[in-house]
Formats: sequence, C-alpha cells, structure tokens
Amino acid sequence: MNAPAHPYRVAVFVSGSGSNLQALLDAQQTGDLGNAEIVLVVSDRADAYGLQRALKHGVAAAFVPLRRPRDPAVRAEWEHRLADVTAAFTPDLIVLAGFMRVLSPVFLDRFPNRVINQHPALLPDDGGDAFTTSCGVVIPALRGAHVVADALRLGLPITGCTIHRVTPAVDDGPVLARAEVPILPGDTEETLHERIKQVEHRLIVEVVTRLARLNG
Ligand code: GRF
Repeated sequence: MNAPAHPYRVAVFVSGSGSNLQALLDAQQTGDLGNAEIVLVVSDRADAYGLQRALKHGVAAAFVPLRRPRDPAVRAEWEHRLADVTAAFTPDLIVLAGFMRVLSPVFLDRFPNRVINQHPALLPDDGGDAFTTSCGVVIPALRGAHVVADALRLGLPITGCTIHRVTPAVDDGPVLARAEVPILPGDTEETLHERIKQVEHRLIVEVVTRLARLNG
C-alpha cells in the first residue's frame, strides 16, 4: 500500500491494553483509515500493552512517566514534557484512547482543538447531567473513571460510548460521535465493557477517518 500523499498525522495516548489503538492500526494497514497515519503512541505507563502494539506495527512508542501525580509542579512539568515529545511528531490529531490522566491547559493549549477522547458512556451535546436515548429513555450522563460499573450499579437499560473533543472540563467538550449499547441481563463490568469496546473500535476508526478527510 502506498503512503497517502498528505498524511493526517495522528498520535494516540494509551494507559493500558490499547485495543482501540489496535483497531486504528489495523484500519491503517488495510487502507481503511483514509489519509490518516498513526505516527506516535505515548503512554504514562511502561507496562501499557499499547506500547508493544505500536512497536509491532513499526510506530514510534514513547513512555513519559508521571512520578508524583499529586504534586502540581511535577504534574505541570510532566505535561510540558508530554507536549514536547508529542510536538516533535507534529500531529494533526491526538487521540486519548484509554489514557487515564487528565490533561490541563498546560498540555491542551499547545494543541488547540486537536485532542479527542473516547469515553465508555453516553454524553449529551449540551454538557448537561442527563442523556436522552434514541428510544426516549433519560439516563444520567456518567463521567469519571468507573462509568461502566456505574451504569450497572444504577441498573440502566442502556449505555454506550462517546467520542468528544477535549476541553479542560473532564469528560466534556463537543461530541463528535456516539453509539448506544444495550445492557443485557447477567452483564458484568467485563462483558459490558467488552461489548462497548467492540462498538468503540468501529467508532474511533470512523471519526479519525472523517477528521482526516475534513482536514487533509
Ligand atoms: C475504552 O473503553 C475507552 O473508552 C476508555 O478506556 C478504554 C480503553 O480500552 N477511556 P483499550 O485500552 O483501547 O482496550
């Protein structure tokens, strides 16, 4: 496969398994990512399997550790370092794909309007606290790091996933795409999250391809 004439350069940030990164890498390999090209994978964790996935595909992988996350000065220095490493690869887009750190304006101001996030729950367009599903059921807009468990704990009939632009407000920012996923009887956090991820894999490829087409 020939490289696209004007690649749309994408950096992917991961903290764990990186199955969404894999979906992007696979799509790139089969020519299904338009003119988008994954140029960098970054993790805050040395053992993130996503780093291995990157290397297997010949993509640059960087580990940028955050040693004392609660120290604001250390955190700001880490965000500067993260931004420096990232900027060296001149990305058009940064995808937070299971990146478990909140980024502040220290980082975000270096890449205005270029950072998107995957969230494994349904978020509304208005930044509010409720979401109305396609069948008219109103459910809470779940935010934070445990939203799959929260959906089960609250006994919701439906949840899903959202891809949105990143702003300094956590799990907020303009929505680019979302999809609903029904919660089935007997679902555990693992089975439900696995089904959500299957949908996320398709959605992230769609969104990156779309942004690449619009900006390429
Ligand atoms: C996804 O469900 C994403 O929405 C959330 O973290 C998970 C990452 O999964 N932020 P993986 O590492 O891509 O498998």
